[in-house]
Amino acid sequence: MRALTVLGIETSCDETAAALVRGVPPGPGEIMSHKLRDQAQAHAPFGGVVPEIAARAHVELIDQVISAVLDEAELGLDQIDAVAVTAGPGLIGGVMVGLVTAKALALATRKPLIALNHLEAHALSARLWAGTPFPFLLLLISGGHCQLMAAEGVGRYRLYGATIDDAVGEAYDKTARLLGLRYPGGPEIEALALRGDAKRFALPRPLKGRAGADFSFSGLKTAVRYIVREIERTGALGETDKCDLAAGFQAAVLDVLADRVNVAMQRFRSEFGQEGAVANFVAAGGVASNGAIRTTLEGLCAARGFSLTLPPPFLCTDNGAMIAWAGIERLAEGLTEPLDAPPRARWPLESLGKSA
Ligand code: KG4
Ligand code: ZN
Repeated sequence: MRALTVLGIETSCDETAAALVRGVPPGPGEIMSHKLRDQAQAHAPFGGVVPEIAARAHVELIDQVISAVLDEAELGLDQIDAVAVTAGPGLIGGVMVGLVTAKALALATRKPLIALNHLEAHALSARLWAGTPFPFLLLLISGGHCQLMAAEGVGRYRLYGATIDDAVGEAYDKTARLLGLRYPGGPEIEALALRGDAKRFALPRPLKGRAGADFSFSGLKTAVRYIVREIERTGALGETDKCDLAAGFQAAVLDVLADRVNVAMQRFRSEFGQEGAVANFVAAGGVASNGAIRTTLEGLCAARGFSLTLPPPFLCTDNGAMIAWAGIERLAEGLTEPLDAPPRARWPLESLGKSA
């Protein structure tokens, strides 16, 4: 099969991103150019993403970002095979900006439109990076999502477990806010945790040891809130308190993730009949750029005979390259969408099916 070249556009949260990727499934693919303008500064005063501000910023940035990737790759729109874009799930205003832009480009160039599920793009990023074969066990951990699933093929995902309240990235962001840290909170907590004593405060491990592979993080954040309140009753939250709380929080997250991943690994082994053979494990989503989480996953995979694919941090957080690559995977299977493909605020990955 000849290599496909796809333009990918991502606007579902607070990153305006585009990329040009060339390749053939199962990958790896070649990232010809990629650009990203994050809006973290615009949202920082609010401690989280403000949908209205995000949508407006996407409108202002999207044209420049797309022009920049075409210039850098020295490609014209006539030289691409398709336009791929996130059609959901995500903040609906931002999704609409990207989708309308992609439709206009597809219409003007008469190229196919690939309206993608954002979570599928995260899932397939390991194939862009390393050509990871199906099936693989996927841990998707981001600001909006926290799931364990088996990926059997393009459009075919089996959910093993998901969060019953907050996503793990959301827990990092909310905890950071309690500690007076900047948004996004993940990198801030990770940095403070390196200097803290994880054992100083006793924090809960929600759902650890329970059957199934679901997650829960809101109780952990609430426990941090009570400790902060207690400390502030008698004085101010000091630097050491913040470091110790960050370390304690992250240790609890690591413990819970390891426990849930262990359960999912056993189920994956039994369902895919790979007893004794090396199985594939993939981590994706912004939280997978956390160094301590990466080390924990490396240890778990080594102990359980899983081969680990961990895309580099720039492919773990939201980006245009994973969208372009997922477009290549779908285009190779003839899965394109008509120009009236709808934007979707909610769109569970396991509902995709081949015809989605
Ligand atoms: O995948 P992503 O860029 O956006 C979506 O949510 O789709 O993930 C962003 C999330 C934020 O919650 C951020 O705090 C978290 O990923 N994050 C981290 C780290 N870097 C980003 N969490 C923990 N440690 C990090 N180093
Ligand atoms: Zn994402």
